[in-house]
Amino acid sequence: MKKVIYYFTGTGNSMRAAIKIAKRLQDTCIVSMRSNPEEVPAADCEVIGFVFPIYRWTMPEPAVRFVEKLQINPKAYIFAVAMPSFILGDGCERLERILETKGAKLSYGAKVNSVANYVLVYPPMPLPKYAVPKAEKKLDQIAQQIAFRKTRAYPKENKFIPKLHQKVMEPYEKLQKDADLPFTISKNCIHCGICARVCPVNNISIVDGKPVFHHKCAQCMACVSFCPQRAIGYDLKQEDIADQIKEFKKVPIAKMMGLPAGRKRYHNPYITAADIAQNERKVDQ
Ligand SMILES: Cc1cc2nc3c(=O)[nH]c(=O)nc-3n(C[C@H](O)[C@H](O)[C@H](O)COP(=O)(O)O)c2cc1C
Ligand code: SF4
Ligand code: SF4
Repeated sequence: MKKVIYYFTGTGNSMRAAIKIAKRLQDTCIVSMRSNPEEVPAADCEVIGFVFPIYRWTMPEPAVRFVEKLQINPKAYIFAVAMPSFILGDGCERLERILETKGAKLSYGAKVNSVANYVLVYPPMPLPKYAVPKAEKKLDQIAQQIAFRKTRAYPKENKFIPKLHQKVMEPYEKLQKDADLPFTISKNCIHCGICARVCPVNNISIVDGKPVFHHKCAQCMACVSFCPQRAIGYDLKQEDIADQIKEFKKVPIAKMMGLPAGRKRYHNPYITAADIAQNERKVDQ
């Protein structure tokens, strides 16, 4: 029987985690949740893993939609590793609820605090030179436990966070479709197409050499962080989108968004744009 790990990633933390666990498990496929779930089922797998970042205190929506459509073997050893920066929210519960509808449950759940990558709102933090080695160490322990098929209750946030979700995050989620309107492309763009290849939701096409955004952005930060020219900016003050983003700009988090000159970008140091662009690979050791 086969072993598979599905991951959703923008800036590589979750892909790195999937690779490390797959190496420890051996003979394991890692599959990006960019794939069509109907083409990569896990109906005959004995080990099934899900690795994902946390967006807005929960599992990213594209990952939710992927798992909802995925066929799984309910008798498999199923694990989840969430990669938040600080606030896990209901990430693992959300996955557990979807698995329940398929007659399955999580055997093992863990979280690894990782570098916060939402550079439209803050610089990468904690400093990658400290946070990445710490995450690597924790992932080694987790991979070891998963290799031995340990069971472990998934981590839960205190009750305060889910209560605040409705007030803080829901207004922002409702206006997500407008979140890519403020993206700008500078004259430094070399038309390489990397932004389009790393986007996990196919939100970018290259038209006449220039990236065009299609308003289904997950705000994953892959395009911003892997652009070799730092050519992607974010400017809420552009006049020609003023009307479209009027409502968006009323949301407190949206108001804070931008990419000031000198703002550092972040992607996991072990993961390249070419890695992200690949949807499926077998990891031996
Ligand atoms: C849109 C967005 C929302 C985020 N929301 C949260 C959050 O609610 N809690 C948290 O701890 N980290 C949050 N983060 C940080 C990411 O979960 C974290 O950096 C993650 O490790 C990135 O994984 P990746 O490199 O695989 O994309 C957010 C990041 C983005 C881009
Ligand atoms: S990755 Fe950057 S340089 Fe390459 S096409 Fe996209 S914006 Fe232009
Ligand atoms: S457009 Fe950029 S930020 Fe939005 S989902 Fe695609 S890669 Fe991520």
